[in-house]
Amino acid sequence: MARLAERTTRIAGSATMAVTATVDRLRRAGVEVLDFGAGEPDFATPDAVKAAAHTALDQDFTRYTAVSGIAELKRAIGDRYRADYGVDYADSEVIVSAGGKQALFNAALSLFGPGDEVITHAPCWPTLPEQIKLADASPVLVRTHAEDGFAIGGRAILDAITPRTRGIIINSPCNPTGALITEDDLASIADAAARQGIWVILDLCYEKLIYDAVPHNLPAVLARRCRDLTVLCGSASKAYAMTGWRCGWALAPAPVIAACGAIQSHSTSNVSSITQKAAVAALTGSQETVRAMLDEYRTRRDNLWQWLSADPRLRCRKPAGAFYMFIDVGDVLSGLEPGGFRTSTEFAQALLDESRVAVTPGEAFDAPGFIRISYATSMETLREGTERLLAFVAAHAAPIRRAAAG
Ligand SMILES: Cc1ncc(COP(=O)(O)O)c(C=O)c1O
Repeated sequence: MARLAERTTRIAGSATMAVTATVDRLRRAGVEVLDFGAGEPDFATPDAVKAAAHTALDQDFTRYTAVSGIAELKRAIGDRYRADYGVDYADSEVIVSAGGKQALFNAALSLFGPGDEVITHAPCWPTLPEQIKLADASPVLVRTHAEDGFAIGGRAILDAITPRTRGIIINSPCNPTGALITEDDLASIADAAARQGIWVILDLCYEKLIYDAVPHNLPAVLARRCRDLTVLCGSASKAYAMTGWRCGWALAPAPVIAACGAIQSHSTSNVSSITQKAAVAALTGSQETVRAMLDEYRTRRDNLWQWLSADPRLRCRKPAGAFYMFIDVGDVLSGLEPGGFRTSTEFAQALLDESRVAVTPGEAFDAPGFIRISYATSMETLREGTERLLAFVAAHAAPIRRAAAG
């Protein structure tokens, strides 16, 4: 076989999606698995959204559309951001893409290139650094820490800026930590970006999943300070339980959107015409379903946290947003005898093999020593899975207790 392109040696496949693939494989083989890996809502897409898709089909709305999306949807996105954040984006400043993932990828390809450094924060969603690498730029990861709830500190980001810094990507609420950046921290980043001509990309894919009424008008902070350098990326996936429909978007100055559109025109073209009609219904219809899902996630989060607190070796805080509990299992790992698992990847594998519970190891997010539990799953699954996890930890950490007692 001829050799693969050099860029394939610089990137790794999605470790989060690998967990989903393993669960699928086991289930097809008849093995019952409790899945805490999936990074997607377990709810059905709201009825009104599905009805809009049926109508689109019935009306034969099945042809190519404009690459950047139908005008109706671009307006719906602009209107949503105006209503939610008070920011103004014209149709020429909006593009519809195949999920937030493609919106972010288009932006990375449009803005970054060889020799550029792009700062983001870790633990992070693994796609962000990989996309930076696919754009031939270098990711610079600023570490956030469990001790302060993985706060995304403005100072730490500013300290990482060098003359080669070309962009800063902020993900708030953050996957996997659930942390939010404060408006003040983002303002300090925006001011530096404006002074030094650095792009700021905001990944808002979990923007509708914030549990308390804390200030989080990040689009307005950026619009006031560095609008010309700002790219907002959002998605219908998590907010409207539409992961499979593949609909996300970017809002940015028209030249950036034009560049994203050119790239998209030569790769995937438009998002499915049917999906686009469904997304219009999602964005313009009642937002009651979004609120109802958030309420259910909050209850799950609180219960899960309560159950996990039964074992102090599973150290975690209640996340402020998204639907993940990010747990420090370092105490379990360090106490094991030789031959036990020593990394969170080994921990996750053993938990799957022995207890049939799938979690995502921290290594997937550049955070060894942690595991991520997605609570976008039913309360019964959460309860049963947590019991198995607690039993698993008790079994494997028993030597520590005996050693401590002795
Ligand atoms: C932080 C973050 N950003 C963006 C996305 C993209 O999601 P989608 O492409 O489904 O919109 C995800 C998906 O898991 C995510 O976790």
